[in-house]
Amino acid sequence: SAADVFEGSKSQCGLTYDDVIFLPGHISFGVDEVELVSKISRKIAVKTPFVSSPMDTVTEASMAIGMALHGGIGIVHYNMSVEEQCAEVRKVKKFKNGFITEPTVLAPHNTLADVDRIKEQSGHSGIPITLDGRIHSKLVGIVTKRDIDFQEDRSIAISTVMTTDLVVAKEPVSLVEANELLRQSKKGKLPVVNEAGALVSLISRTDITKALDYPLSSVDAHKSLLCGAAIGTRLSDRDRFLALVDAGVDLVVLDSSQGDSEYQRDMIRWIKDIHPEIQVVGGNVVTRTQALHLIQAGVDGLRVGMGVGSICTTQEVCACGRPQASAVYHVSRLARKFGVPVIADGGVANTGHIIKALSLGASCVMMGSLLAGTAETPGDYFFQDGVRLKRYRGMGSLEAMKVGSAKRYFASAAKVKVAQGVSGAVVDKGSLNQYIPYLVMGVKHGLQDIGFKSISDLQTNVAIGKVRMELRSAAAQREGGVHSLHSHSSSNN
Ligand code: XMP
Repeated sequence: SAADVFEGSKSQCGLTYDDVIFLPGHISFGVDEVELVSKISRKIAVKTPFVSSPMDTVTEASMAIGMALHGGIGIVHYNMSVEEQCAEVRKVKKFKNGFITEPTVLAPHNTLADVDRIKEQSGHSGIPITLDGRIHSKLVGIVTKRDIDFQEDRSIAISTVMTTDLVVAKEPVSLVEANELLRQSKKGKLPVVNEAGALVSLISRTDITKALDYPLSSVDAHKSLLCGAAIGTRLSDRDRFLALVDAGVDLVVLDSSQGDSEYQRDMIRWIKDIHPEIQVVGGNVVTRTQALHLIQAGVDGLRVGMGVGSICTTQEVCACGRPQASAVYHVSRLARKFGVPVIADGGVANTGHIIKALSLGASCVMMGSLLAGTAETPGDYFFQDGVRLKRYRGMGSLEAMKVGSAKRYFASAAKVKVAQGVSGAVVDKGSLNQYIPYLVMGVKHGLQDIGFKSISDLQTNVAIGKVRMELRSAAAQREGGVHSLHSHSSSNN
C-alpha cells in the first residue's frame, strides 16, 4: 500500500512518480462514468483537477480563460506590473464565450491606413467605430473589408466609407439570439450595444460558428470564469493583492520556492483578516512541518513541490527539496486532517504522473511544461530544425529574472544573481481545446483501471490501504517505458 511504500523501511529514500506503480483493481463501470470533480482550495471546487503554473511562458489571460473553460483554473503570473497583471485578470473575469469583450475600436476621423495597420497586426477587418474611438462610447458605424477594399486613397477618413446602417444586438443578448440575428442579417459582425447605444462587445460570425460548449467551466456565483493570480510576500505585494481583489481575482497563490517563512505566515494572516472571502494558497512546501505552519496561519490550499519542475535547478543549487511523490504523500496526509486541499506542483510529464499525484492525496496538479507550447501560452511559435516550438523557462532562470521575477528566488536585493532555473523550448501542442480533453481522458482511463469512479473514492481507498502500490526497480521503470525497438515515433505526445 501507499503507507508501506512511503512510511515503511524504505521511507528514508525519497520517491518520485516513476518509482511507484499501482496494481490494477476491478472494473465495473465505463470510462465515461468516471468524474474528476475536485477542489483547488477549501472553498473552490473544480470539475477538472488541473491548474496552470504562474509562469511568464505559461499563464496570462488566454491560458487562464482556456483552463477555466475546461473546468480547471489558471494562475496569472506576476512577472509584470500590478496594472498589467490586473488587466489580465480582468480579461478573464469579463470573458463571455462567443463575445469579444475588448474589440479593437476606431473613431470616425481615423483613416483607412489605420484599418490596414490593425488588419496587419491582429488580422481583424471588421472594426466598430465609436464617437471617440473607444469601447463603451456611442457606436456610430462599422468598417468591414467590403467598405474599403477598392479605395485607392488610404488617407481618407473612415467616416466617408463606414457602414452606418447597422444591425446591432441590444444587451442583454444570448448567443442563441445573436446567432439568429447574424443568420438573418448575413453580416460578419454583430455589435452589442446598451440602452444608450454605447458599444459593449462584438460578436463575430466566424467565432460563433466555431463556438464550443464548455459544460465543465469553472465559474463564480455571477457566472464569470474563475481566475487565480500569483503574488509575493513582500510588503509591496499587499498593494498588488488589493489591486487584484479589485480586478475580481478569486484566489491568490503566494509564490515562494520555500514557503515555510514568517513572511508568508504574516501575509496569510493579513489577507484572511481583511479579505476572508479570497482564497489563499500557500507554499511551496514539501514536509508536514512546513505545511502545518501554513495551515496554522490559515491557508485555504497548499502548493507542494520543491525543485522538481522540468526547468528547476533549486535542488542542485540549494541542496534542498524533495522527490515529488514523497512530498505529495506526506503533505497530503497531514493536510487531509485539516481539510486543506493540496496542489501537486511540478514534475508532471504525463497523465500517469497526474493519476499518481491525485491518488497520493493531491486534489489538483499544477503544470508548467505540460501546458507550455499550447496556443494559449504567451509568446510566439518559431521553427528550429524543422520543428515548431515555443519558449518555456523557469521563473528563476536568468532570462526571466531580467524581466523582474528575482523576488521569488532572492529574499533580499542580493547583488549576485544565482539562477535556480533554466530556459529552453517545447514543441507546439496545439490548442487547449484538444489538449485538455486528451489529458482528462487519460486520467479517467487510469482511475478506471485502478477501479474507482471518482478522485475522492480513489484517495479514500489509498489512504486506508485498499489500493495496492509497489515500488519499481530501475529495470522495471525501463520495462514500463518504450523499449527494445530499433526506433519509434510517439503518436500520443
Ligand atoms: P513543470 O515540471 O510542470 O514545473 O514544468 C512547473 C513548476 O516549476 C516551478 N518553477 C521553478 N522551480 N526554478 C525552480 O526551482 C525555476 O526557475 C522555476 N520556475 C518555475 C514552479 O513551481 C512551477 O509551477
